[in-house]
Amino acid sequence: MINDISKMPDEFYKGKKVLVRVDFNVNIQNGNIGEDYRIRMTIPTIEYLTRRMAKVILVSHLGRPKNRDISFSLAPVSKRLSEILQNTNVRFVDDCVGPQVKQKVSEMKNTDVLLLENLRFYKEEESNSPEFSSELASLADVYVNDGFSTSHRKHSSTYGSAILFKTRLAGFNLKKEIEYLTMIKEKPKKPFVLIIGGVKIRDKIGALENLLPKADKILMGGAAAYTFLKAKGFKVGKSPVDEEHLPWVTKSISKYGDKIILPVDHVVSNSLQNHSIQIVSNNIPDDMTGYDIGTETINIYSKEISENISGTLFWNGPMGFFEVSKFANGTINIAKSMALAYWRGSNTLIGGGDTLEAMKKAGVSEKEVTHVSTGGGATLRFLAGDEMPGLGVLDRE
Ligand code: 3PG
Repeated sequence: MINDISKMPDEFYKGKKVLVRVDFNVNIQNGNIGEDYRIRMTIPTIEYLTRRMAKVILVSHLGRPKNRDISFSLAPVSKRLSEILQNTNVRFVDDCVGPQVKQKVSEMKNTDVLLLENLRFYKEEESNSPEFSSELASLADVYVNDGFSTSHRKHSSTYGSAILFKTRLAGFNLKKEIEYLTMIKEKPKKPFVLIIGGVKIRDKIGALENLLPKADKILMGGAAAYTFLKAKGFKVGKSPVDEEHLPWVTKSISKYGDKIILPVDHVVSNSLQNHSIQIVSNNIPDDMTGYDIGTETINIYSKEISENISGTLFWNGPMGFFEVSKFANGTINIAKSMALAYWRGSNTLIGGGDTLEAMKKAGVSEKEVTHVSTGGGATLRFLAGDEMPGLGVLDRE
C-alpha cells in the first residue's frame, strides 16, 4: 500500500519545502479556464500541508508545447488557485528551474504556496533527464505526487526527481483514485456494467482485457461501437472503423459476445455540418455516418444503467459526437441515467475528460457520481494493470 501524506506526524511538515506534482493540465481558452476539476481535487492535499506549516511548491505540465510557448503558461491556473485558496499566499514564478526559481523558493514563508511554470517548457522533463531531475529535486525536502492522471508518464517530475527524495508520498487525490480504481479492477460490486464509448479502441484494449472477464455487461457506444458492429457483420456506412484492431474485436465478441451489447439504432447524417439527420435501425446506409446512438438504444441502455441499483457502473467515453447538440442525446441520456443509478444506490465511476464534460453538458454534477477519475490515459493504463512509474516510485508500507 502506498503511503500518503497523513503517514507523517504533523510536526514533520513544519518549515519543510514540499514539492507537489499535480496535474493542472486543464483546458484554457484565451486565458480562461474551462473545467477546473483537476485543480479543485488537489485542494485537500495543499491545505493539509499548509495547515501543518509546510511551504508548498507545485509543479505541473500543461498541454504538449514543443518549447517555451506562453500560450501554454500556467499563470491562469495560479490566478484560479488564489481565488480558491482565499486565505493563502499563492505565488507564481514564470520558470520551473534556475536561479530565479531558487530565489523565489528561498523567500517562501511557512504556509506559502508557489506554482512553478509549465514543466514542459523544457524538453528535459519528458526525457526524464538526470540533470533536470536533480534541479527539481534540489528545490525541496519532501516529494508528494497528487497527479494520478500523469502517473503513467516516466518523466522528471513524476519519476526522475521523485527517486532523489528520501520521503516520497501520495497526496489525497492520488490515494482516492487508486482506492476506487483498484475496487473496479479487482472486486467490483456485482452486477458490474461497463459503458464504453469514445473513439480509440487501441487505448481501451488493455483495460477491456482486464475488465471484460469481470463485467456482467458492456454497453458499447460512440465511434468504438462501429468496429464491433462491423465485426458482427452489420453495415456501418462511412462510420469510423478501427481496421487494425478488428481482429481483437472479433476475438472478444466470440469470447464475450453474450455480455457485449451493441446499439440497435443510430443517428446518422451524410456530414457533420448537414442539418438533416435520420435514425436508422441496425445497418447504416453506405453514404451515411453514425454520430450518435438512436432512441431505442438509449431506452435499452438507460434501463440497464438506472436499474442497476446494487452494483457498479463504470463509464468511459461519450456515446456520440456530443459537442454538436443534435448528436448529444445519447450521451446526455446516459449521463442522466448514471445520476439516477447513483441516487438509487449504485456505485458509479466515470473516467476520461470527455466524459466529465459530457456529464456537465447533461446538467449532471460531479456530486451525482460516486467517483470521477481525473485521469484519461492514466485511468485506462491503471485498469489495464500496466506499469505506472509515478506510483511505483512512491514509499510503501
Ligand atoms: C492527461 O491529460 O491525460 C494528462 O495530463 C497527461 O497528459 P499527456 O498525455 O500530455 O502526458
